[in-house]
Amino acid sequence: MISNWVQKDVLNQPAYKVKTLPFQIKLNQNESPWDWPIEIKSRISESILSSNWNRYPDLISTDLKLKIAKNNHIDENGIVIGKGSNEILQALFTASIRSNDTIVSISPTFAVYKILAEQKGATIIESKLDSNFDVDLPDLLSKSKHAKLTIICNPNSPTGSLIPINIIEKIVKNTSGLIVVDEAYVDFSNVSAIGLLPTYKNLIVTRTFSKAFAMAGFRIGYGLMHNELASEIQKCLLPFNLDMPSIIALNTLLDYSNIVGDRAEMICNERDRIISELNTFPGFKAIQSHSNFFLVSTDKTPEYVFNYCANKGILIRNISSYEDLERYNRITVGTTDENNTLIQILKEMT
Ligand SMILES: Cc1ncc(COP(=O)(O)O)c(C=O)c1O
Repeated sequence: MISNWVQKDVLNQPAYKVKTLPFQIKLNQNESPWDWPIEIKSRISESILSSNWNRYPDLISTDLKLKIAKNNHIDENGIVIGKGSNEILQALFTASIRSNDTIVSISPTFAVYKILAEQKGATIIESKLDSNFDVDLPDLLSKSKHAKLTIICNPNSPTGSLIPINIIEKIVKNTSGLIVVDEAYVDFSNVSAIGLLPTYKNLIVTRTFSKAFAMAGFRIGYGLMHNELASEIQKCLLPFNLDMPSIIALNTLLDYSNIVGDRAEMICNERDRIISELNTFPGFKAIQSHSNFFLVSTDKTPEYVFNYCANKGILIRNISSYEDLERYNRITVGTTDENNTLIQILKEMT
């Protein structure tokens, strides 16, 4: 019997799903719409070809740590690198959370936090965002005060809302528990908690190369924190977690980090353009965002809008199963041409 082999917490969980259909335009997973230039990709491929596939890669990706440290002006001993920031989140939950510990998050937010918390048998307490998708600070402070870990996505997914750093600092100061700030979309907000790291030992910032950095296919993310904490969390990442192709690719692409800022700026301009355009359509409500995606509701059901776009070859994300987002889809900002097509199709739908 499966229930004899698998923990109840896991059996009771729905599987993480992303509905996918054939598409011409992909606006459903907050990826970068631009791949890396082919010349750089060719160089990386050659490097992978000439490497020894029979040998293990560097145990803790020392070179990458040095480069990431340099880019962020922090000590390399305070960095852990994983297969996506999801793996960093998993490692830090493994390091700190046990059955019946309390984890606080905001709601609605990134679904993986709850999945990890449930798999550790932890109790998850949510502080609901208000009707503008802003935090209810007194509620969050009182809930996180005695929590083992509080996790905040900033800017938040799927709402695109942003918590200012002075508020993040209040949350960090208010508790002796761990505070994790997930900055997967930081390149679009340029508001980071990194500056608080030297002051607060209980703070962890997680980042990813899957979004603005256009490397979702390789799966690399990292965590920044106090050195002592980093050594402990490193223990919870399995040996040789990063594969050789990912290490080579990131090592090369980090030398071109400068293109990320320009691309992020273009995305933010496009985002604001689409939002104002959609808000002129009858029945549409597109929500201001600090990220590379935004929420939109219309006078049709989210499923209708999702299917309408899908039938025209555009994949968006129906997030109506999230608490308090029953009327919404989430749309990732694409290239200008893709965005124009999206706007045109939604106009036809009205
Ligand atoms: C808020 C947030 N955090 C973390 C992740 C995980 O990113 P990755 O594991 O690709 O680094 C995602 C991916 O969608 C995300 O939206």
